[in-house]
Amino acid sequence: MHSGDSEELPAFLPSTPEGVARAAELLRAGEVVALPTETVYGLAANALDERAVRHIFSVKGRPLIDPLIVHGLDVEFFQEFAQFTPLARVLAAACWPGPLTLVLRKTAVISPLITAGRDTVAVRAPAHSVMRAVLAACGRPLAAPSANPFGYISPTRAEHVRASFGGRLPWILDGGPCTVGLESTIVDVSDPTAPPRVLRPGPITPEALSRILGQPVQSPTPAPVGQAPGLAAPGLLARHYSPRTPLALLEPGAPPDSPPGGRRVAWIRFSPATGTEHPPAGAEVFWLGQNGDLAEAARELYALLRRLDQAGYAKIWCEKAPEAGWGLALNDRLRRAAGQG
Ligand code: TXA
Ligand code: MG
Repeated sequence: MHSGDSEELPAFLPSTPEGVARAAELLRAGEVVALPTETVYGLAANALDERAVRHIFSVKGRPLIDPLIVHGLDVEFFQEFAQFTPLARVLAAACWPGPLTLVLRKTAVISPLITAGRDTVAVRAPAHSVMRAVLAACGRPLAAPSANPFGYISPTRAEHVRASFGGRLPWILDGGPCTVGLESTIVDVSDPTAPPRVLRPGPITPEALSRILGQPVQSPTPAPVGQAPGLAAPGLLARHYSPRTPLALLEPGAPPDSPPGGRRVAWIRFSPATGTEHPPAGAEVFWLGQNGDLAEAARELYALLRRLDQAGYAKIWCEKAPEAGWGLALNDRLRRAAGQG
């Protein structure tokens, strides 16, 4: 897939015009390149090149039954690839570029490899200026899942991508830390006769979606623990986004158990306002987001989970965020990280 000495890989491409031009050239040549988006880093390839798309699945270790999101610049860019329903146009006008993925009926141009054989395709116009520059320079739709090994925590820094893939992924375009930090909201608006349905909660809340649409949206129903998810969202596996260290959830303010003899545990908390309990012996507290700012907590969650996963704790305890706004997406990811779907 690449030339050069694997000892020197991966190469970080800078977010300069030269770095962007190089990334676009590599993508046109069928390479997989990790790219920054405002949500998380993606493992991108030319969506119109089956061989390149296949390579995404093999680098990521992702099962072929889990479809990919296709990235583009705007509604116009996607005309050849997806059928926009009236509601899809309203959402795109309000939220693009941004952290919203629309599931729409696909056209024949989109390979069943990308959609795992379904007749819908997930499309998103990301807001990150570097990603947009690459899309413009490349002139191709880019298929990109999050740039983490399947099942592990998503990357919000170029360094996270390097740490997970090393030389197996030769090219990473470094666009700095992601400003949103959680994956996009996914909403199915493919069927004009059905109500819009959120498949994955994210930065754009169900309330925001229904305000924009002037009608209610259906919320996701998580798969029961240990059970394969329904066909609607095949990638939304119960255990996902997981550190290797066991992670368990706590109600806000409830302290973790004391760890047995001499072990250390981490306790992630959201706001000093939820309580000032002293941690039990052996537990170290990590505040996520200042003064209960959940947008900031979302931005930092994955970097913190990765750091704690490296630090040798026996267990990571995390209190649940309030079940509203950003808290819905945060709790969804935390439940999956804890294997609770
Ligand atoms: O923020 C994001 O969405 C990031 C950045 C890189 O854009 N991407 C991302 O991709 O999170 P990934 O592959 O990690 O998650 C995409 C999810 C999967 O759960 C997949 O099953 C679902 O989107 N998906 C893709 N196509 C679908 C379709 N046609 N119908 C239903 N779900 C779909
Ligand atoms: Mg992912």
